[in-house]
Amino acid sequence: MNNKRIIVPLDFPEASQAIALGKQLSPELCHLKVGKELFTAAGSALVEELQNAGYQIFLDLKYHDIPNTVAKACQSAARLGVWMVNVHASGGEAMMTAAREAIDQCDHQPLLIAVTVLTSMSQDDLTQIGINRPLEDQVMHLATLTKQSGLDGVVCSAREAQILNQQFGSDFCLVTPGIRPATANTDDQKRVMTPGEAIKAGSHYLVIGRPITQASDPIAALESIHAEINSCL
Ligand code: C5P
Repeated sequence: MNNKRIIVPLDFPEASQAIALGKQLSPELCHLKVGKELFTAAGSALVEELQNAGYQIFLDLKYHDIPNTVAKACQSAARLGVWMVNVHASGGEAMMTAAREAIDQCDHQPLLIAVTVLTSMSQDDLTQIGINRPLEDQVMHLATLTKQSGLDGVVCSAREAQILNQQFGSDFCLVTPGIRPATANTDDQKRVMTPGEAIKAGSHYLVIGRPITQASDPIAALESIHAEINSCL
């Protein structure tokens, strides 16, 4: 685990905006996340350009398909050289194990992370898709399956970090969005934690978007969040 704890999501429709932000930020201070919107628009060429600029990339494509397809997609991500890649834990143990084995065969091995329950989902949404246990139990169930399948960690809410840390140990990587510095606008995030609180709760990596990407001075915003994190370590 390195000292760069912040992952900045490049939630943009076009490569030019992502590249511009990459130039304003520094690979010494953060990782970058490329998700479905940007990757669909700009593809692997953009990922390579950002990597050539020194960034480590979290390729947030949340693979969920038959085991063979997910395994091959993970190998493509590994060949692309990304630092972190993710799958949906609800794809099941066979899918996650296939992803693990596929990455283990690669020269470059990205961190392999699973999404448990999307935080946009409510208890009612789970019931609609036939899952009747409490949402928190479903998160824990899928995190356990993730660990058993040999993955490196999960994306979760910082509010779940403490219990996941106790359950699975500090080597199990926790990637947490929904983070806001105490002074920042919460935007559409409903249950936020500050960077310091999230680190104390056991988060390894904090996904922090708009407080940095929409700041008039993104690098100053990033540095100030770093100062807060370092004071907690
Ligand atoms: O701007 P903000 O910090 O809210 O951005 C958070 C990023 O993390 C976005 O890319 C969002 O899609 C992602 N995310 C999230 N909540 C989750 C999972 C991912 O906000 N539960």
